[in-house]
Amino acid sequence: MFGTKRNNPQIDKEQLELVKNAQKRIKQKKRLYFHFVCFLIGSLFFILLNLALGFGKGFRPFNTNWFVFAILIWLFLLAYHSFNVFITHHFMGKDWEQSQLEKLVAKQKQRIEELKKTIPVTNQSNMRSETDDKKKTNITSCLTIIVAAAENDAIGKNNQLIWHLSDDLKRFKTLTNGHHIIMGRKTFESFPKPLPNRTHVVLTRQPNYQVPNGVVVVNTLEDTVEISKQDTQPFIIGGGEIYNQALKIADKIELTRVHQSFEADTFFPEIDTSIWVETNNVYHKKDDKNEFDYSFITYKRK
Ligand SMILES: NC(=O)c1ccc[n+]([C@@H]2O[C@H](COP(=O)([O-])OP(=O)(O)OC[C@H]3O[C@@H](n4cnc5c(N)ncnc54)[C@H](OP(=O)(O)O)[C@@H]3O)[C@@H](O)[C@H]2O)c1
Repeated sequence: MFGTKRNNPQIDKEQLELVKNAQKRIKQKKRLYFHFVCFLIGSLFFILLNLALGFGKGFRPFNTNWFVFAILIWLFLLAYHSFNVFITHHFMGKDWEQSQLEKLVAKQKQRIEELKKTIPVTNQSNMRSETDDKKKTNITSCLTIIVAAAENDAIGKNNQLIWHLSDDLKRFKTLTNGHHIIMGRKTFESFPKPLPNRTHVVLTRQPNYQVPNGVVVVNTLEDTVEISKQDTQPFIIGGGEIYNQALKIADKIELTRVHQSFEADTFFPEIDTSIWVETNNVYHKKDDKNEFDYSFITYKRK
C-alpha cells in the first residue's frame, strides 16, 4: 500500500562487533573441543590397532609400543592448540585489547540499561513530554506515532500484525496506558476488543460507523487531533493509511525496528531524516519471547 522500502538497518554497531567477537571465540573453543574428542577416539583407535589387531607389533622404538609415541605427539599438538586458544588468542594481540575495551563498554551500557529499567517507562515518557511541553509553550500535547516496522518497512498483512514480539507489546502497553490511541477503522477492526485503560479514537469516513461504548468515532484527521489535545501524549497507533497522513503532523515517533524483511500488504512510510532526528536507539537480540532481533528507536521532529 505504501510500498516504499528502505534498506538502512539501524543496528547498534558496537553490539554487533561484540557479538561477532563472541561468536569467533565460541568457534575457537568449539574447534578445540572437537579436537579433544578426536584425540580421545584416535588414541583409543591406536591402542586397539596395535594391541588388539596387532598392527605394527614389531615396531617398538625404545622398547615401547609405537602407539605411545603417536599419542604423545598428538597430545603435544593438542596442548599447542589449547595454548593458542586460551593464551595466544585470548591474552595477546590487538584483538584482545579491542575485545577488552568493548567488553568494558558493553558492561557499562548494560549497567545503564539496568538502571533505566528501575525507572518506570511511563514516568520517563511523561517526564520527557512535560519537558517538551514546557519548551513548546504553544503546543499542549505531544502527538506520538507508535509503530513496529520491519527492515523493508512492512507493518501488516491481511489486516494482522506479521510477527510476535513480546517486549514490543509490553512497551506498547506501558507507553500508551492511560492515553488516547488514534487509529484507522481497519486497525480498530483487527482488535478482538478495545484495549483496557485507553481512550480509543477511530477514524473512518463512514457517517454511521457503530462502535462499543466508550470508543470515539471521528471523520477527519483534524478532529482526532482536536479531541486528543486534552491528552499530554496522544498516540497514533496505525495502520498504514493513518501513519502516512499523521507523519505530517506528529511530533515524535516511537519505532520498533524489527531486523528482518517480510512479505506484507501494508507499509510504514520512509522516515525523512531531514525532518526527523533520532534521539534514542536501543538494540535487542532475539530470545525465547521475541522471535527476531529488534531496536527501540525514538525520533523527534527537528
Ligand atoms: N506494525 C504496527 O505497528 C501496526 C500498527 C497498526 C496496524 N498495523 C497493521 O496495519 C494494517 C492496517 O492498516 P491499513 O492502512 O490497512 O488501515 P488503517 O490505516 O488502520 O485504516 C484505514 C481506514 O481508516 C479510515 N481513514 C483513513 N484516512 C482517513 C481520513 N483522512 N479520514 C477519515 N477516515 C480515514 C478509512 O476507514 P473507512 O474505510 O471506514 O472510511 C480507511 O479505510 C493491518 O495489517 C494492521 O495489522 C500494524
